[in-house]
Amino acid sequence: MELVLVLNGPNLSRLGSREPEIYGTATLDDVAAACAGIGGQLGLTVDVRQTDDEAELIGWVHQAVDQRLPVVLNAAAFTHYSYALHDALAMRTAPLVEVHLSNPATRERFRHNSVVASVSDGTVAGFGLLSYELALRAVAVLLAQRS
Ligand code: DQA
Repeated sequence: MELVLVLNGPNLSRLGSREPEIYGTATLDDVAAACAGIGGQLGLTVDVRQTDDEAELIGWVHQAVDQRLPVVLNAAAFTHYSYALHDALAMRTAPLVEVHLSNPATRERFRHNSVVASVSDGTVAGFGLLSYELALRAVAVLLAQRS
């Protein structure tokens, strides 16, 4: 089973109670359970992590770079301004899929830019929990294409 990191950035620990009209009522535990379920179907072992700390997130990206691990990344607000995260992700060689629960393109202007998008294989946004499932499916396809 191939290991995939599912990395989540700031405030995503608050899913369930955080602006449910935008992010839905699923908690981060629900996200982790859904990812584990779909991962199992796809032959992927899924390691779901969350941090509010940019340095910790970049450390996880370095781990993924060094171990050539595929990543599904919801960088949350870091998506829109963390050039340090962009630079870390630029070193990756394994699949990377950017994911968002909401559709940032339909929201405030500051959310329209992603510094993650240009170093990702693709982006899935706007489908709530399903965004993670679709992102993991994309990772599985990318891994199959590369083997
Ligand atoms: C988000 C969208 C971001 O703009 C926001 O800062 C988040 C969550 C999403 O999953 O929809 O924290 O990444």
